[in-house]
Amino acid sequence: METEERISMIKDSVKIAPPAAYREKSYVKSAEEYLAKYQQSIENPTAFWNEIAGEMVWQKRLPTVIEGSMPDFQFFPGSAINVSENCVDRYAKDPLTRNKVAIFFEGENGERKAVTYLQLYDEVQKFANVLLSFGLKKGDVVSVYMQNLMETYVVLLACFRVGVIYNTVFAGFSPEALRDRIVNSNAKMVVCSNASYRRGRVLKLKETVDEALKGVDCVNQVVVYKRMPEVETPMQEGRDFDYDTLMASASANCPPMPLDCNDPGLIIFTSGTSGRPKGIVHAGGGFLLGTYAYTKYQLDLRPEDVYWNTNDIGWLTTHIFVLVGGLALGNTTVLYEGALDYPHTGRLYEVVERYRVNKMFSAPTAYRMMMKHGEEVAAKYDLSTIELLISVGEPFNPEAWHWVRRVIGGGDAVINNTWGQTETGGTPLASMPGAVPMKAGSCGVPFFGHQLDITDLTGNPVPTGTPGYLIIRNIFPSLARDVFGDRKRYVENYFSQIPGAYFTGDSAVRDEDGQFWVLGRVDDVINVSGHRISTMEMESSLIQHKAVIEAAVVGQPDDIRGLVPVALVTLEKGFTPSPELEDSLKKQVVQDIGTFARPEKIFYVEAMPKTRSGKIIRRMLREILQDGEVRGDVTGLEDMEIVNQLVKDINGKK
Ligand code: PRX
Repeated sequence: METEERISMIKDSVKIAPPAAYREKSYVKSAEEYLAKYQQSIENPTAFWNEIAGEMVWQKRLPTVIEGSMPDFQFFPGSAINVSENCVDRYAKDPLTRNKVAIFFEGENGERKAVTYLQLYDEVQKFANVLLSFGLKKGDVVSVYMQNLMETYVVLLACFRVGVIYNTVFAGFSPEALRDRIVNSNAKMVVCSNASYRRGRVLKLKETVDEALKGVDCVNQVVVYKRMPEVETPMQEGRDFDYDTLMASASANCPPMPLDCNDPGLIIFTSGTSGRPKGIVHAGGGFLLGTYAYTKYQLDLRPEDVYWNTNDIGWLTTHIFVLVGGLALGNTTVLYEGALDYPHTGRLYEVVERYRVNKMFSAPTAYRMMMKHGEEVAAKYDLSTIELLISVGEPFNPEAWHWVRRVIGGGDAVINNTWGQTETGGTPLASMPGAVPMKAGSCGVPFFGHQLDITDLTGNPVPTGTPGYLIIRNIFPSLARDVFGDRKRYVENYFSQIPGAYFTGDSAVRDEDGQFWVLGRVDDVINVSGHRISTMEMESSLIQHKAVIEAAVVGQPDDIRGLVPVALVTLEKGFTPSPELEDSLKKQVVQDIGTFARPEKIFYVEAMPKTRSGKIIRRMLREILQDGEVRGDVTGLEDMEIVNQLVKDINGKK
């Protein structure tokens, strides 16, 4: 959607009040209450974060709340806190909650199990002892390559327990991408499952790990959870260990280590403006404080809720809203492994009905997929328990928004489209569900303690209704603390564009009601089904191919996935377009990054439109792909003839 179209959509959007029944249960019950608390939290962030800290279990609590400023800041320096103690122990020790289900697991193959807080407590302590038994120490890194499983939660919580930094890698990544992440985080151990179900197929994750570890010497052990014991899994003597065997002899007593609130807790790699993926570092304690606050107020999460976040553990969203935020609130969560529309298109609804889910969190891509399957599928299930539907990761188009509310939400559910980034470790923008009126497609209002602004490139606020750069002017505990091993990159990427502010890399508009609408990236990152993919990374993969001289990748709108990557390449002499070549180019990207980055289409072009300084003008490629012509400014172009040829090449193949 073009920016002008978006702006008129924003102007035309209507306000929908949250239903009274929901409002009554909400932590914040009115717009006035939200505004008053928001103002206080900005004027006195210390008081707000102290209030959140008061709801945590601390091992040591010193009076200092905030120290320093961007990019060198700390929350509760010197105070000691442990994430796993807050997420597990406090509910496992309380007789009222110890037998409460923490996780309902459901596999794509239909397998089901329920795990209580007490059981989780034992499992987490056992795996923490496994980590210690291999000599892992505070600050060491473990890479985790697993799908959504109860055991994945155990592994991650165990890392938090003993100060080991985990680095989850999405199980769709290729061996090369996994190797990059293992090497760049200097991981000492890899924990993986042997295989995963995906649309009835078996993905052999351990094979990927074996391939990734070729030539890697930082990893000493690989712990393998045999999710599918029937899948043959070669184990390397002395390096590979079976999860169940280790757990069988591990003691279930491992006290939570006192950790400084600012000690690194996790690393997650993400694509950014330039170069290779960055290892975003989050402080464990800081992440806990932030995610607890977002989950409590933006999801209104209550102990009696049954809550399902359909997203994959390879994406930070589930760490924010389930693993840490959700469990820290003592919640019952549904955990599902596999495809949401397999083996039949009603699978998602079946899960909602079975567990009486009342709050569901998904991504616009998944919602649009359900929409494509049709409302007659939804009509077969009892979805009456649904009260709140949440979304993050990509623009939520109003058509899908209304469909979701009517069909999944029974016409009266609250829809909360949140905005966040891997770097923000949470969602600084969201609807305050019971308090602020909804608007289809809006990302809501700034969260307590977060000062967001929309500015020009010098940091001056732009008028209401005008697009600008989305920035955050103050610090908050879940803001990334570093890029692993590259402080300079951290400072340059996020804190150098606008002095004194965090630069999100997104553009946005604020409307008359103070609601924010995020329009998209201002850099070369595209968002495919919620996965952030750097077009530069894809381009460098394509030019590795012997047939390619030059490559450009742009995002093309797609009804379901939001955007899909499309590649334009110029070929070396002697190569001609053929189905085999197309196949091998796509394979190159799949091998370097993963299947989710496979280019949807490849166009062969004679030359690329460039500026006089030699930069490819991707905007023009996008315009030709979308509209069949270049509409914007052409004055910076080096050679107009190239554009005419491109229009012919591309239109001929569309
Ligand atoms: O461009 C924004 C888009 O997704 C990016 C962040 O991606 P990732 O780090 O993978 O997200 C992790 C989520 C905690 C942002 O820079 N984005 C996210 N939410 C929205 C969005 N774009 C539009 N609307 C949203 N609600």
